[in-house]
Amino acid sequence: MRILITEKIAEDSVQYLKDQGFDVDERLGLSQSQIEEIVAPYDGLIVRSVTQVNRSLLSHAKSMKVVGRAGNGIDNIDVDACTDLGIIAVNTPEANIMAAAELAVGLAFCTFRNICFADQSARKNEFRRGKMIGNELEGKTAGIIGLGRIGSIVARKLSGIGMRVIAYDPYITDERFARAGVEKIDGFEDFLAQADLITFHTPKTKETVNMIDAPQLAKCRKDVRIVNAARGGLVNEKALYDALVSGQVAAAGIDVFDKEPSYDRKPGEQNFEHPLLTLPNVVVTPHLGASTHEANRNVGTAVTELVAKALKGELVAAINMPAVGGRLSEMRPYIQLAERLGSIYFQAEKTRVNRLEIVYSGDLAGAETDLLTLSVLKGFLTPIAQERVNFVNVSRNVAQMGVEVVESRTTLLEKYTNLITVRFTNDTRTLSVSGTVFGKDSMRITDFFGYPMDFEPTRNVIAVQNEDKPGVIGRIGTLLGQNEINIATLNWGRKGTRANAVVGLDGDVTDDVIAKIARLEGVLRVSLLHF
Ligand code: NAD
Ligand code: MLT
Repeated sequence: MRILITEKIAEDSVQYLKDQGFDVDERLGLSQSQIEEIVAPYDGLIVRSVTQVNRSLLSHAKSMKVVGRAGNGIDNIDVDACTDLGIIAVNTPEANIMAAAELAVGLAFCTFRNICFADQSARKNEFRRGKMIGNELEGKTAGIIGLGRIGSIVARKLSGIGMRVIAYDPYITDERFARAGVEKIDGFEDFLAQADLITFHTPKTKETVNMIDAPQLAKCRKDVRIVNAARGGLVNEKALYDALVSGQVAAAGIDVFDKEPSYDRKPGEQNFEHPLLTLPNVVVTPHLGASTHEANRNVGTAVTELVAKALKGELVAAINMPAVGGRLSEMRPYIQLAERLGSIYFQAEKTRVNRLEIVYSGDLAGAETDLLTLSVLKGFLTPIAQERVNFVNVSRNVAQMGVEVVESRTTLLEKYTNLITVRFTNDTRTLSVSGTVFGKDSMRITDFFGYPMDFEPTRNVIAVQNEDKPGVIGRIGTLLGQNEINIATLNWGRKGTRANAVVGLDGDVTDDVIAKIARLEGVLRVSLLHF
């Protein structure tokens, strides 16, 4: 499988992908249209913040299965478009937060103490320090916009140097403010009026773009310092320029621009110009927030592992599926069971389903089951799906088929500690299957279309419905033996005059053998199930 990398990630991580057997192309510094031209054959794409993974690019990405964002923000990834196309989108939200927070703090120091200006001046033989007098941070008020992962670290660090720290973040609880030891300010204008330093730590959204524009700058304290190491455009660049020239803003530290330069071009090839670069009271860094060796290692390792796993068909905590965090490994056997249960219906039946009910019982009644439901649906569609089915697009595909999906829960269970039941209702009847996980990870199907069972859903299983008379199972065994197919397990359940046998096989079985079983005396129907 082929992976395209369009922005620089750690060398070790690229090597890791190669060692995993992937065919990796690092093509850095390409324009959007150049990427669109070459992207078609690639199964995976790894980007940082510059490549715009939008609908246009994705429409050219005919083989794409996973997009890996080496970093935190996902504003350059059209997650909805990925979801529509069944492409898994992954990022590495924790891997560079310390690096980004430390850069913001560094920029804050520069804006108060003219460090970069002094350095530039010194290189021009200008050592008159009277022209470089700054202000102390101790005792001033730091205003954080967005008290998330990075904002909270910045708050801790600035408070450590003796600043009073306030924050504006309408989306988090008072408890989060308390935990971060930060003063909550409800009104944005009130916040602007109190801060000597304003530092942005929000994502780029409709609401945060131009969050500080000319009117807001006018409401800030005179001589405020502004730091943006989050996303370009959160502070309006034209308004900031004017306020820096007028002296309303004393200095700014800018790591990110609304429209960013290419970070891989040599100086001679670079054509980036910006009015802010002409001002002495602005410190500019080239989107350097995540650029530490530590963060590069963390981000590279995290993104390549995620992309490799996704391409191998393993479950990864993607942006476009429910969050499972650290519970993924603990949930894995239930996820596998749910998928196997979902997959039974269309392997055995050929009629459409109108309603699919999933019942979580026992221990699972109180569990987070979003991912289990997605797994049932994924299993359900896989035998019939023409297009790629994955955790990302399956809900939408099932809804488009007109299948009503209902979840219910009960804590009552007599025989098992946990049970998943899936009821498939078609035009004429409801068929149900149930399964449980024993111990750490042993799966058992305990009900197969109304017949009590106890079988392991292994790779090749035939399910035979037959008249409950002597000799039928013997005939099936003989026929399998004649065709050199070894029986691994045998289970059966009875209901009235009928029985259901579930036979686990060591090897593959051909359609011809299945047809012969179907013709045996006493056999009513037979299905081959692959789990
Ligand atoms: P996060 O999701 O943990 O936190 C974002 C916070 O912003 C949340 O608490 C949210 O409630 C708050 N928020 C959202 N909308 C808001 C609004 N309108 N007003 C006030 N608060 C609002 O994100 P994070 O991991 O802390 O990252 C913060 C930003 O830093 C992101 O934009 C990310 O892309 C950027 N980043 C930049 C670099 C860099 O190299 N410069 C590196 C890493 C992250
Ligand atoms: C991020 O969102 O992780 C940062 O902006 C860093 C980057 O993309 O390089």
